[in-house]
Amino acid sequence: MTVGGRRALVFGGSGQVGAAVLERLLQAGWTVDATSREVRPERPGIRWLRGGFEAMPALAGGYDAILSCGPLDHYARWQSTAGVAAPRMVAFGSTSLAVKRDSAEAAERELAERLATAEAALFAAARARGGEAIVLRPTLVYGAGRDQSLSRIAAMARRWRVFPLPRGAVGLRQPVHVDDLADTAMAALAARDAGGRGYDLPGGETLAYREMVARVLAALDPPARLLELPAPLFSALAAALRAGGRLQGFGAGAQARLRQDLVFDIAPAAAALGYAPRPFRPDAAMFGPR
Ligand SMILES: NC(=O)c1ccc[n+]([C@@H]2O[C@H](COP(=O)([O-])OP(=O)(O)OC[C@H]3O[C@@H](n4cnc5c(N)ncnc54)[C@H](OP(=O)(O)O)[C@@H]3O)[C@@H](O)[C@H]2O)c1
Repeated sequence: MTVGGRRALVFGGSGQVGAAVLERLLQAGWTVDATSREVRPERPGIRWLRGGFEAMPALAGGYDAILSCGPLDHYARWQSTAGVAAPRMVAFGSTSLAVKRDSAEAAERELAERLATAEAALFAAARARGGEAIVLRPTLVYGAGRDQSLSRIAAMARRWRVFPLPRGAVGLRQPVHVDDLADTAMAALAARDAGGRGYDLPGGETLAYREMVARVLAALDPPARLLELPAPLFSALAAALRAGGRLQGFGAGAQARLRQDLVFDIAPAAAALGYAPRPFRPDAAMFGPR
């Protein structure tokens, strides 16, 4: 790598994880070409290129690293076909690869399959170009108020002052803060002998789903109440709210998972990337504007 004048190409830099990665690259003195399908405001150190994987803008090449913080399957397909070379590629994937492999819902099984195929394609594409790829697989992301899980729950709870869950939502979770992910992407850029594989990135605390939601509700100002309902009643309520356009998600697959432990081993990422995520200590600011 060119010390002092390192250049990165970043996909997904406008997203919740990507924005945190961009800040760290700039702080570390990198010069960044970042793509977006929208027009983005110029900033010193970042050149925004308008486009995406379907319509790639002209790229300068000669990058020291490529970081993908957008959809892994799109990035892997582009990297395998048209992609540019770089000695290090760091791409975010998802633990959905393992979690949804045996889901009851076909769309979820297809997502898991797409992620697995994409990882294999990316490792092969990197090798073919003499580079190394690392895939980082977060669990449930929170912290920037832009996620579609806990921030969405917080938004509904702020409106309703209460949030319903079915009884028995005791499956274990490991929510991971967006800043821990961005720090790890930076560590992955510099890591030695860590390439050619994926790393699960769980959060630093393992807790039951109901406890995770209870902490979010308690952090709100004013706090909201957790309302635990018999599972069939919750199921009927969720279906009614979805039909009325007042709830997204919480389909059959997601409801079944509330009782399942989704637990990942921190050790490989800790050993290879120095990964040491924070425990889950939410505050209201982590869940977006009121
Ligand atoms: N959120 C989670 O809980 C979670 C959990 C596990 C894994 N992950 C993974 O972590 C990574 C970052 O997630 P995130 O939550 O930060 O994502 P996000 O906020 O939804 O941002 C997605 C980014 O991807 C870009 N993008 C989307 N479609 C694109 C396309 N067709 N071509 C080019 N760019 C495209 C968007 O850029 P523009 O709109 O500017 O073009 C946006 O910046 C993703 O790989 C995601 O799968 C997220």
